[in-house]
Parts: sequence; C-alpha cells; structure tokens
Amino acid sequence: MVDNYDESRSSGAALAATIEMDKDKRGKARTVKPLRQLWPFISRYPFLLTAFLIFLALAALLNLGITEALRVIVDCGFGGKEDVSESCARYALGDIGQMGSYFKFGMVIGLGLALFSALRFYFISVLGQRVITDIRKAVYNKLTRLSPEFFERVHTGEVLSRLTTDTTLIETVIGSSVSFAIRSIAVSIGALIWMFFISWKLTLLVAAIGPIVLIPAILIGKRIRVLSRSSQDNLARASGRAGESLGAIQTVQAFTREAKERADFSEAVEKTFDAHKKRILVRSFMTLIIFGLGMIGMIGVMWFGASEVAAAQATGGEDGLSGGRITQFTFLAFMVVSSTGFLTGTWTELLRASGATERIMELLAEKPHIKAPANPAALTNTQGAIKFENVNFIYPSRPTEQTLQDISFEIKPGETVALVGPSGAGKSTIFQVLLRFYDTQSGLVTIDGFPITKLSPQDLRRQFAIVQQNTPLFSGSAMENIRYGREGASDEDVIAAAKAAFAHEFIEKLPEGYLTDLGESAVTLSGGQRQRLAIARAILRDAPVLLLDEATSALDAESERAVQLAFEDMSKSKTTLVIAHRLATVLKADRIIVMDEGRIVETGTHKELVNNKGLYARLAELQFDAAASL
Ligand SMILES: Nc1ncnc2c1ncn2[C@@H]1O[C@H](COP(=O)(O)OP(=O)(O)O)[C@@H](O)[C@H]1O
Ligand SMILES: [Mg+2]
Repeated sequence: MVDNYDESRSSGAALAATIEMDKDKRGKARTVKPLRQLWPFISRYPFLLTAFLIFLALAALLNLGITEALRVIVDCGFGGKEDVSESCARYALGDIGQMGSYFKFGMVIGLGLALFSALRFYFISVLGQRVITDIRKAVYNKLTRLSPEFFERVHTGEVLSRLTTDTTLIETVIGSSVSFAIRSIAVSIGALIWMFFISWKLTLLVAAIGPIVLIPAILIGKRIRVLSRSSQDNLARASGRAGESLGAIQTVQAFTREAKERADFSEAVEKTFDAHKKRILVRSFMTLIIFGLGMIGMIGVMWFGASEVAAAQATGGEDGLSGGRITQFTFLAFMVVSSTGFLTGTWTELLRASGATERIMELLAEKPHIKAPANPAALTNTQGAIKFENVNFIYPSRPTEQTLQDISFEIKPGETVALVGPSGAGKSTIFQVLLRFYDTQSGLVTIDGFPITKLSPQDLRRQFAIVQQNTPLFSGSAMENIRYGREGASDEDVIAAAKAAFAHEFIEKLPEGYLTDLGESAVTLSGGQRQRLAIARAILRDAPVLLLDEATSALDAESERAVQLAFEDMSKSKTTLVIAHRLATVLKADRIIVMDEGRIVETGTHKELVNNKGLYARLAELQFDAAASL
C-alpha cells in the first residue's frame, strides 16, 4: 500500500506498471486468514447466508441420496431377486415390487437434488454479488474522502485495480469457490463414511488407488496454473503496451514507428500463444492420465467388488453387497476423488482472494489526512475575509523543499488581490492550503476569523469558486460540466453563466449545442474553450470567494477582456484572489502580492511596485512587456 508510485506515468504505462505489480503481489498472502475480514460484509445478510447453508446441506444430503437411488434402481428397479426385500420395499413409491416405483423414487431424489442445487447456487451467488457491490461502494466512498496526499503516494492505476481486479477476485471466491469448497468437503466426508459402511475393504482399496490418480492430477494442475498465469501476464503486458501506443498514436505515426510497434506487439502475442500451447499440451496430457488412471481404477474397484459379491453369494448370499451397492460405492468414490482434486485448485484461488482482501482492507483502513474537527464551527453569511499568518508549508511528498515560507497577508471582504511571481513560486500552493487539501506545518489560515481547521472541510470549500490552472473537466456535455458548479441549477442559469464566461457562442456552435458529448475529460475542446467552461462552472457556483489560477491564460486577448469584465462584475461583491501573468488582470487588482521561492517579496499596487524597482518591476518589464508601459 505504501509503495512508491509517485513517478508520473502515462496511462498505458501505468497499466503496464500495475500489471507488473499485480504479478508480484499475486498470491502474496500465505494464509487465508485475511478472508475473515470479509465476515462483517457477509454477516450483514443473515437471510441469504442461512438460506444458502440450508440448501447447501440439503443438496449435499441428496447428493449422497442420489447414489442410494442408483443402488435401488439397479438392485430393485431392474427386477433383481431382491425386489420385494426390506432394502427395496422402503424406497418404493407406489406399489411395492413394481419396477416403476423404484424409478419414480430415483426421479424424486434427482429432482430434489436439482432444486436444492439451484437454490444453493442462487443464494450464494446473490450473496456474493451483494457483498462485492457493498465492498466496491465502500472502496469508492473511501477514495472520494481521501486527501490528495494519498493519490500522490499511490498510483491511480493501482487504486483502480483495487476497485476492479481485486474485487472481482473476491467475487469469484464468495460466489463460487467457497460454495463449491464447502459442498465438496461436506459431500466427501459423507461419502467416505457411507463407503466405509458399504465395504471397508473396498474403501481401503480406494484409499490406496486414489492418490495414484490424485497426485499426478494435483501436480499437473499446479503446472497448468503457472502456465496460464504466465500467458495472462504476457497478454496483459502486450495490451498495456498497445494501450500506451494507441493513446499516443500521433507520436507513433509522426516518428514513423508503426512497423516497430507492430513487431513488438506481434512478438508479445506470439509469446502468449506459445505459453497457451504449452498449457494446452500439459492439459491434454492431464486428461490422458486422469481419464486413463481414473477409469482403470474405477473399473478395477468394480471388478474387485463384483468378485466380493460372487464370493458372498457362493457362501450363502448375505444381504450386504450387491450389484447396486457396488455401483453406488463407485459413485461415492468418484465423488470423493473428484472433490479432493477440485479442492486443491480452490486453495490457490482462496489464497489469491485472500491477497486481494488484504489489499482492499488496507485501503478501507486508510485515514484521510485532513481531519474534520469534532465540533466544527458553522459558517453563515460568509463575508470572505481571508488571512494567512506566518504560514509555513512543506508538501508531504517533497519533504526537502519548503514550498511556503512565513506567508502572511490579509484580504478584506470584497477585495480583489492578485498573486504574481515566477512559476514554482508557490502561488497555486496558496490555493491548495486555503481549500485545505493539505494542512500547514505552522501558522494560521482563517476565513471570517475562523481558523480553517475549525471548520468542516466541506463547509470551508463551499465558500470558494475555483478555476484551476489545468481546468479539469469531466466527460459529458457542456451543460453537465457547467452545472457541476452548482447541482440543480436551471438551464437558464447555466446558459447565463456560459454567456458571462464568453463560452455561449462556441457551445452553441457544437453539433448538439449544450448537450454535445465532449468526450473523456472534454478532450474534444481546445485549451481556451476548456478554460471558458471552467470559468462558467465557477461563475455558476456563486460562492463568496473567487479563486482564479491563471484562469484566462489560454484565452485570446479579446475573449480574455470579455471574461475579465464578467469577473469584475462578480468581484465587486466577492473576495477575489487571482493568480495571473497578464498585466490586464493585475492592473485591476486592489493589491498585488509578489511571491518568489515560497516567500512574499513585495506587496502593493501596480504603481507602487513598479516604482519599487524590485521583482515585480522586472517581471512587468519582461512578462507584461509592451503592456507594462501603459
Ligand atoms: N503536489 C505537490 N507535491 C509536491 N510538490 C509540489 C506539489 N505541487 C507543487 N509542488 C511544488 O511546489 C512548488 C510550488 O508550486 P506551485 O504552487 O504550483 O507554483 P506556482 O503556482 O507558483 O507556479 C514547486 O516547486 C512545485 O514543484
Ligand atoms: Mg501555479
């Protein structure tokens, strides 16, 4: 969980990395103990669980019962000499001695077995799905609560694999493996006991022959699992690599590397084929061995049994062994042997699910770094007064760099303050601290006099409308993206916000206007268009404090001016903190705070700062160039 996945990777590479990592982690768990942690999720559904256990028990009983039915059919139904004996009579459905009555008995048992098996399957599958749905929700609920710090530490690909791969592993285990395992154990024990009662001699014979079939089956089965895992890994790696290349198809084609990409992919899938072929060969061999040994063993047991029957008849015909009993015995033996074989495969599956459970539970135990106070103060009628007092801050993922050093400033309600400074100065970090995505190491940040740590983070964040530097948007339509700012806003409000953000015109021109699907993270828009949507979203939010982080950097001069006007309109009634590079924005501010290397180096109006001949004057000269002379 605390592995370092802090390098930024493209999504394809991330997938490949996740797969690599999954491979290392797979089967990490040595015991099935972590599976116990699923109990709280399972015990929430006592009805499903009880129903499953009842039908499991009934199905197991009838599983044994069906072998008895077989015996009755063979011994009695076929009209053997015992057809009215005690052991037949008690099973007759209808007239005792009638051939059909024994077949009817068999059918009833068979139907019962089918019914209980179906019900068992139904209840355990629903339980499995129910539990896994709850776990998925719990994981996602937890993820949305965690602080940005967590996502710096754990790679998104890794997080997503918990949500998908790991939960699926658990799903198969609860839904099928465990159910089959319990059934196999129950049936095996019952069958063994019954076998012993039928004939201890034959049982010992099976105990001697069984391992001869089982051991090669277990060994070969293990080999098959290793091989199929390696072919899965190969395929996953090839897909990861292909995903990366297709994601950057323009780069591939621009560098004319298509042939190389094809060769790489072809090599990877050929390797997968080779691994599969090996697996198929081993599997075929296993079929040969198991069928061969199994059949010989089974018929051998019957042969031995038959001679026992013959011997018994020769010495006076006791009622114990009969053709039907031998048939029944063979079936019971078959059930024990095949269940045991099945269980060994299940064990590996249980271990994998156990590893998955461990990882998921680790995630569920993760605590958000930002803690809400026990009795949060209530913010009402926020004025938007903001104050930083001697704030020092270091990003947890970069402990060697003091990102904010002794920052103090104050913004009065309704004021507009510009933050300027070279990139990396710490301007965006001020916003991060203000929204309390990170806690500072020392100093005090207040809004309307309340220390932000005394407020609930949600309540605090409701006071802000932010336009972030990289303008993250979501897949969906323009309408949905803008409405993200205020749930339940009317279409008219959304359109008004879009107009204010100078976005209305381009949105109208999209094929389906406001309802056009913008693609994943709205990739189909240009940088400037994305920015205008983000601005509209912030305008719609209508919060007391407006935070703009280079919000107009991708706009052309004309639309910037228009957006600027909209902001000016808004900022009359709101506190505005704006990070900007362009003079047009900065000039309008009541005050300018100049930052460099995590410190505030100057504060003042444009005029004062230009006269100061400090960093601002230099920046103004360089960055604001011609405009600076205005
Ligand atoms: N999440 C983060 N983790 C670690 N370091 C960060 C993070 N975000 C920003 N930084 C670092 O903090 C410094 C200030 O960044 P930032 O506030 O974004 O600068 P600005 O917005 O002024 O360009 C930079 O050196 C940057 O690399
Ligand atoms: Mg920045």
